[in-house]
Amino acid sequence: MTAAARAAIALIPLALVAIIRIAAAAEPPTAPPGGTCVECHAGLGGELAKPVEAFTRDVHSQRGLGCTACHGGDPTSPDQEVAMSRAKGFRGAPALRDVPTLCGGCHADVVFMKRYAPNLPTDQLARYVTSRHATELARGNPRAAVCSSCHQAHGIVSTRDARSPVYPTRVASTCARCHARPGGQGPVERWERSVHHAALVAGDLSAPTCPRCHGSHGAAPPGVESVPAVCGQCHPRNMQLFRGSPHLSAFEAGSLSACGECHGHHDILHPDDAWVGVGKGAVCARCHAPDDPGGEAAAKLAADLGGATALLRNAEARVEAARERGMLMTDAQVALEDARQQIVQARTLVHAAYPRQVDEQTRQASVASRKALDLASRAFGEIRYRRTGLLVALVVILVTIVALLLQIRVVDARRRQANAGRR
Ligand code: HEC
Ligand code: HEC
Ligand code: HEC
Ligand code: HEC
Ligand code: HEC
Ligand code: HEC
Ligand code: HEC
Ligand code: HEC
Ligand code: HEC
Repeated sequence: MTAAARAAIALIPLALVAIIRIAAAAEPPTAPPGGTCVECHAGLGGELAKPVEAFTRDVHSQRGLGCTACHGGDPTSPDQEVAMSRAKGFRGAPALRDVPTLCGGCHADVVFMKRYAPNLPTDQLARYVTSRHATELARGNPRAAVCSSCHQAHGIVSTRDARSPVYPTRVASTCARCHARPGGQGPVERWERSVHHAALVAGDLSAPTCPRCHGSHGAAPPGVESVPAVCGQCHPRNMQLFRGSPHLSAFEAGSLSACGECHGHHDILHPDDAWVGVGKGAVCARCHAPDDPGGEAAAKLAADLGGATALLRNAEARVEAARERGMLMTDAQVALEDARQQIVQARTLVHAAYPRQVDEQTRQASVASRKALDLASRAFGEIRYRRTGLLVALVVILVTIVALLLQIRVVDARRRQANAGRR
């Protein structure tokens, strides 16, 4: 082997390293990509420059995907005619109807997406085509929502980023761009009056926003038959009890909404015991007369709940009064908490519609309330006992003082007499 040949062999590993380096350079670079597209557009101003600015925080840009990922073209040519030529695959700004397949081209490609984000779901396009938005798009409605209506086209951030327009605290205003209705009676305005909105504003991210009930990509009205499952995602006990109640078949037969008939769908409010029964404001009275079997059951439920709640309030007041007088009421407070929990469960059991279970639960609540009342009575007995004891002690002390004073006077008198005798 000649020296030249040996040198060539020695160079092979180096050459390999160089080849690997070149291949690695073809992998996504770390600096925001964009090439000449970004260079030229940054200087154009107005609508043509805005995408460049937004793109610096875009997830696609951060993963090394440039303008060409969506628009095609040649990002190496500084010449507009070349860079944006059809010959180089330039597609221009996609038309609304082409956006789902453009974004879906990557996002539904399981093999491609795995290289970047192995755990990111790839079902968005498949779900989207089932949505009401897709139907509207197919009909040519220019207001239909496509991927970029909810995620933006440039400046897309992770959906777990609080800046994302689909983040729980922001998504309702994204939907509201198209679903707000003047007059305050649209789904958005109604939802804003609900307990769910209040919980979200208070920081409870588990409270439902629009997509939690409608689906994000497959957004559609749930349909009356799926309402219990929609609400049951988070209120499973209510759903279970409703499904065991006589209302299940009656509501299905009448195409009534399982939870919505009594709670509404968007403006769901904090319920109240006054909802039960056949009196004014009671939801049962909307469908039941006082003398039909449903009405009779409602009246019995109202009486049980009302009775147990009144007893609890009374017990709470007595225990608090004893506590204010300095008595240690821990046991009574435990009993009160028990009664409160039993009543909370009784309210849920209203969904079974039959009084038997509620009756059982309210009875247990009343046992606990009575225990607390009993402890409060004992505490007041103790207070009385202590008060009498104090009185007796005071009298004894007083008598002792008087006796002492008398004794002092007697001693004084004797001393004076003795002094007089000495003189
Ligand atoms: C030398 C400057 C220059 C370069 C390089 C350039 N553009 Fe443009 N681009 C323009 C100008 C000017 C317009 C607006 C006038 C027009 O549409 O021809 C434009 C328009 C566009 C539009 C809107 C077209 C439409 O249909 O509304 C898109 C999208 C676009 N450019 C993307 C790109 C992409 C992607 C690249 C890189 C592959 C690129 N541009 C490279 C100057 C440039
Ligand atoms: C993730 C896909 C995607 C990427 C990446 C992307 N765009 Fe776009 N771009 C779109 C879509 C979709 C539209 C259509 C308008 C819309 O839906 O807002 C658009 C529209 C445009 C327009 C037309 C004006 C406008 O804002 O509607 C220009 C110009 C443009 N893009 C330039 C760029 C440039 C420059 C880059 C790189 C810095 C880029 N785009 C990267 C998806 C993308
Ligand atoms: C060239 C392929 C490609 C195209 C086209 C594309 N994306 Fe992406 N997208 C990706 C990749 C890769 C990621 C990064 C995944 C990661 O790193 O988490 C991503 C991330 C996202 C995310 C963040 C997901 C998350 O929560 O982590 C959203 C939202 C998104 N894309 C929306 C869109 C929209 C809307 C369009 C069309 C306007 C689009 N994408 C077009 C490849 C693409
Ligand atoms: C009507 C609004 C809307 C439309 C249209 C929409 N999305 Fe989304 N997207 C959301 C919401 C809301 C989320 C947040 C997570 C969730 O609820 O699924 C999301 C999440 C995502 C994610 C992250 C998925 C995850 O589970 O982390 C990706 C990727 C995505 N969308 C891509 C797309 C693509 C691609 C399209 C078009 C085919 C599209 N989106 C259309 C509202 C929308
Ligand atoms: C770009 C506008 C736009 C955005 C953003 C948008 N939608 Fe829509 N949506 C529409 C249009 C248009 C329809 C067709 C029916 C209509 O006009 O109400 C529709 C229909 C619906 C329907 C079916 C209504 C029915 O009566 O059948 C639901 C449910 C829905 N959208 C939910 C959502 C949710 C949830 C979001 C946010 C995550 C959202 N939409 C964001 C435009 C939008
Ligand atoms: C707690 C669950 C829930 C939440 C949260 C929710 N919806 Fe609904 N929505 C429903 C149900 C249930 C229906 C009625 C379904 C039916 O009758 O088929 C409905 C119906 C709709 C309809 C069609 C009927 C109409 O009134 O126009 C639209 C549009 C809609 N919702 C949009 C939204 C938007 C936008 C948000 C967010 C502000 C939202 N919804 C929040 C459960 C919900
Ligand atoms: C994504 C989870 C989720 C979904 C779906 C959901 N809720 Fe809620 N709901 C909550 C949270 C969180 C609260 C507030 C915390 C609390 O008071 O329990 C709440 C509160 C309530 C309350 C008030 C409870 C009270 O004691 O004040 C009612 C009534 C209610 N939801 C009914 C419904 C109905 C009806 C549906 C379906 C149309 C529904 N929810 C769908 C999570 C959900
Ligand atoms: C027949 C009317 C009716 C139907 C149907 C109904 N509810 Fe209720 N719901 C009530 C009444 C009445 C109360 C209040 C009970 C009380 O406070 O004494 C209530 C209370 C609630 C509460 C707060 C108390 C608790 O259990 O935490 C939630 C949550 C709730 N309902 C969810 C649902 C869900 C989910 C559905 C559907 C599966 C549903 N409701 C169906 C009448 C109904
Ligand atoms: C949206 C209408 C509606 C509301 C509201 C309603 N019900 Fe009913 N309920 C029905 C229908 C329909 C039936 C089937 C039998 C009938 O026609 O009376 C029924 C049946 C019943 C039954 C079985 C009666 C029997 O024949 O054995 C009971 C018990 C009952 N309801 C209790 C209640 C209670 C308690 C409330 C309030 C928390 C209530 N219902 C609210 C419509 C309603």
